[in-house]
Amino acid sequence: MIAHQLETFELGKMEWHSPAHVHLVAEAMRRAFLARNEGLGDPDFVKTAVVELSSKEWATKQRATISPEKATRTSDLEKVGKDTGGNGPNTTHFSVVDAQGNAVALTTTLNGWFGSGVTVTGAGFVLNNEMDDFSTVPGTPNMFGLVQMETNSVAPGKRMLSSMTPTIVTGKDGKVELVLGAAGGPTILTAVFQVLSNVVDFGFDVTAATNAPRFHQQDFPDKMMTEKGGFPEPLQKALEGMGHTLMERERIADAAMIGREGATFVGAAEARRKGTLAAGN
Ligand code: DON
Repeated sequence: MIAHQLETFELGKMEWHSPAHVHLVAEAMRRAFLARNEGLGDPDFVKTAVVELSSKEWATKQRATISPEKATRTSDLEKVGKDTGGNGPNTTHFSVVDAQGNAVALTTTLNGWFGSGVTVTGAGFVLNNEMDDFSTVPGTPNMFGLVQMETNSVAPGKRMLSSMTPTIVTGKDGKVELVLGAAGGPTILTAVFQVLSNVVDFGFDVTAATNAPRFHQQDFPDKMMTEKGGFPEPLQKALEGMGHTLMERERIADAAMIGREGATFVGAAEARRKGTLAAGN
């Protein structure tokens, strides 16, 4: 949904991380999250949203509301929500390519730190706390600050929304070009978009694309989250001048990517997270 809104803007012709570039992407993030949080839920329970939200009409309508100069206040787009924050390193993403070019992108999660904190006696594993991915109280923030609605409320047999975005990009020849994904709750969605856009729109190699500073807008809280030291002062000032409220965080998501470079594949380990690894032979 972020990419769909941005497809007419030719990001690659803009200066990377110029105020205009960051502003446009953040505005598309805001609108994608708003639609997600208000309209998405288990497709067995919520029938129409996926078709509508993937349509050209939806993207065109959203795009028309983006001002190139001014941040839209989330409160002008929706009426709910409370401020909160939070994020935990409790998800793992693997990107794998074998010698034949077969690829796997896999994200797995306990959700919170040590999940629910409950182990299964004798079985040696921890149970997750995925219930928090539902809107347990619609209109109230979950542990990631996401304010979600009835469409994602708890019901018997219903599956909670996830932000996990394991992604495989293939070229025109059908062969694998990129394998990627991330950990970090809702920042997964915006991190995967940015890492992908860094390669596809701006021609970064996989390591530079993964290591480049990131930002995040999830409609509520109405703040653009940035990584410590990620935005130089002139960029911060320009964005504030456009009406964005910036909030620094230690880091935004942990991504792991493999990319095809000529006849071989190159992996990028996430410098933000301990214990990440890029290996090959
Ligand atoms: O599926 C989701 O969106 C969340 N359960 C992911 C949680 C997560 O990534 C936590 N850690 N870094």
